[in-house]
Amino acid sequence: MTPIKECLINNKTDLTPIWLMRQAGRYLPEFREIRKNNPNFVDLCLNSKLSKEITLQPIKRFGFDAAIIFSDILMIPYGLGQKVEFKKNFGPNLENLEIDKLLEIDEEKFTKNLSPIYQLLVELKKSVDLKKKDLIGFVGAPWTLIVYMINKVSPKNGLTTNFFSDTSLINNLLEILDKFIKTHIKNQVNAGATIIQIFDSWSGLIKSDFDKYLYNPTLSLVNYTKSLGVPVICFPRGISDYKKFCQIVKPSMVNIDYNINPKTLIDKIEIPIQGGLDPKVLLTDNENLKIEVTKYLELFKDHPYVFNLGHGILPETKIETVEELVKIVRNFK
Ligand code: CP3
Repeated sequence: MTPIKECLINNKTDLTPIWLMRQAGRYLPEFREIRKNNPNFVDLCLNSKLSKEITLQPIKRFGFDAAIIFSDILMIPYGLGQKVEFKKNFGPNLENLEIDKLLEIDEEKFTKNLSPIYQLLVELKKSVDLKKKDLIGFVGAPWTLIVYMINKVSPKNGLTTNFFSDTSLINNLLEILDKFIKTHIKNQVNAGATIIQIFDSWSGLIKSDFDKYLYNPTLSLVNYTKSLGVPVICFPRGISDYKKFCQIVKPSMVNIDYNINPKTLIDKIEIPIQGGLDPKVLLTDNENLKIEVTKYLELFKDHPYVFNLGHGILPETKIETVEELVKIVRNFK
């Protein structure tokens, strides 16, 4: 069994597996090299040969316990026919949402639009020893995808006051996304994903109707993934009540963000925990790195724990710091 599965399924605490969110990304010179010649990010996600190479880059360098596919949560809106662009120094930019266009898409067409992602997993299976490492597929949670689909750009400055004004649009989207996110999960599992992670990067923006936007849609996806026999990790970034989330949604593991003090969770959460460390700590010196990483390792030494960050690794991170991080985690006893 893989180290992560030992943790998730057998509740083992004598090892701390490690992988990092956004481990295949801009902090890697070999990624930037490929990216330089491939200015269209969506096309790169749909190029299974190059996305395979990118997925494996951090595995080759650091020997992480899991490979997460090089893709993006916004490939779901793309698969549904809403165009997505990634602009330099700006981030994602989606075209205007036309709900009628979305309603025309069927599962077959959606699967065809995203087929290189499934091909990527089939290819990865040939290069990754699945007895030793996991192959993580992922999706965005309905709420976070709705935020991007309606807002069209990152909601860094919060949501506009009229965001919720079109209730029927939101209700339609919740229904469509439940269906197609499940399709995307199923296709990834059939192609070889051994774990699914659900990214709800903007769940911290939900201020009311938690059942409608957070608990119910996530529970539906968690139950579905479990029914396929695959563990599912949830990352509800920025929520204030992780305990309640875990009690209601019951994922196989929860990834915590860095705003939550992990000490307040240790006695409250019974499921395996992943992550937590502020990615900015990786921009400081090795001495501070050791102190901060050890805090998490010590705190969770009797709890099934997978080392990861509280959000994606920052592009400014140095390779040597990641090497040092891996050393600290691997040598911790
Ligand atoms: O973790 C991995 O290494 C796998 C690949 C992965 C990417 N995006 C590649 C990527 C994963 C798991 C994601 C998830 C994702 N994408 C999320 C959820 C996690 C999170 O960060 O909150 C979100 C919100 C997105 C949407 C997205 N994609 C944004 C907001 C941006 C721009 C900001 C940024 O960090 O650049 C992207 C672009 C993106 N996705 C890049 C990568 C490697 C950078 C693209 C580039 O080279 O310019």
